[in-house]
Amino acid sequence: MPRRRRDIFFCGPFPGECTVQEPSPISPELRPPGHIAVIMDGNGRWAEQRGLPRTEGHRAGTEAARGVVEESLALGVEFLTLYAFSKENWSRPADEVGFLFDLLVSFVTRELPELEKRGVRLRVLGEERDLPFAARRTLRHACARTARGDGMGLNLALNYSGREEIVRACRLFLDAGGAPADLTPEKMRDYMYTAGLPDPDLVIRTSGELRLSNFLLFQTAYSELYFTNTLWPDFTPRELREAIADFHSRSRRFGGVEALCPASRAYRSGA
Ligand code: FPP
Repeated sequence: MPRRRRDIFFCGPFPGECTVQEPSPISPELRPPGHIAVIMDGNGRWAEQRGLPRTEGHRAGTEAARGVVEESLALGVEFLTLYAFSKENWSRPADEVGFLFDLLVSFVTRELPELEKRGVRLRVLGEERDLPFAARRTLRHACARTARGDGMGLNLALNYSGREEIVRACRLFLDAGGAPADLTPEKMRDYMYTAGLPDPDLVIRTSGELRLSNFLLFQTAYSELYFTNTLWPDFTPRELREAIADFHSRSRRFGGVEALCPASRAYRSGA
């Protein structure tokens, strides 16, 4: 019998939380989604609502990202992908763009020792060569330092465009001598930024916008989508668990039928 939302019950505190028993929407025997991808939206509106400059929203958004990374680690998520900067984001005012990359550099620099300690492997998805020099240098260093980590994979989508990723993958395949007739969806995977990663099981988007905004277009063919009105800086670890609980209530059939779909049942039985 598939587990439905109403079966979700209370469980104990998560690592790093206070010991006061609080209701958790995730049943402890359920496996978390292997790969969660997040469109962190609403920083600007969060700041505007408080009469603050947009940059303060990004600063607060960085803290929310930190909380989600920690919670994902505590829950045993295998891969977490954060959409931090799209190709389209270059059209923002130059000082906002500069602020975002400065924030990224200080975030990665500050968190690197902890990421290393926890076995997190950092990876960039996107066109790295067009990033500001300091960001490139910091990210290269951090990716190299964490490459051997045996814990969670943390992917930062930076200067990323889903459509361009697809075009780039086709070009790389052809440049490598591949014949057009031999190009299959499976082969494409090897030429994507996400080569070697599983597709996202769950995509979360905050701030009430109901679209993918050029994010992992190839990889999200069968992802479950979770939308919330919460603005990104207000997105808490608890809401991450709510999103995961919602994910567990879904029936994933991948175009097939439930009875023949072991992947869906495995998630919901914890197998
Ligand atoms: C969208 O909010 C957010 C971004 C374009 C940047 C996301 C960046 C962060 C959360 C901080 C850095 C992240 C890391 C991982 C260090 P928006 O500005 O589009 O908000 P709005 O739609 O309300 O204007």
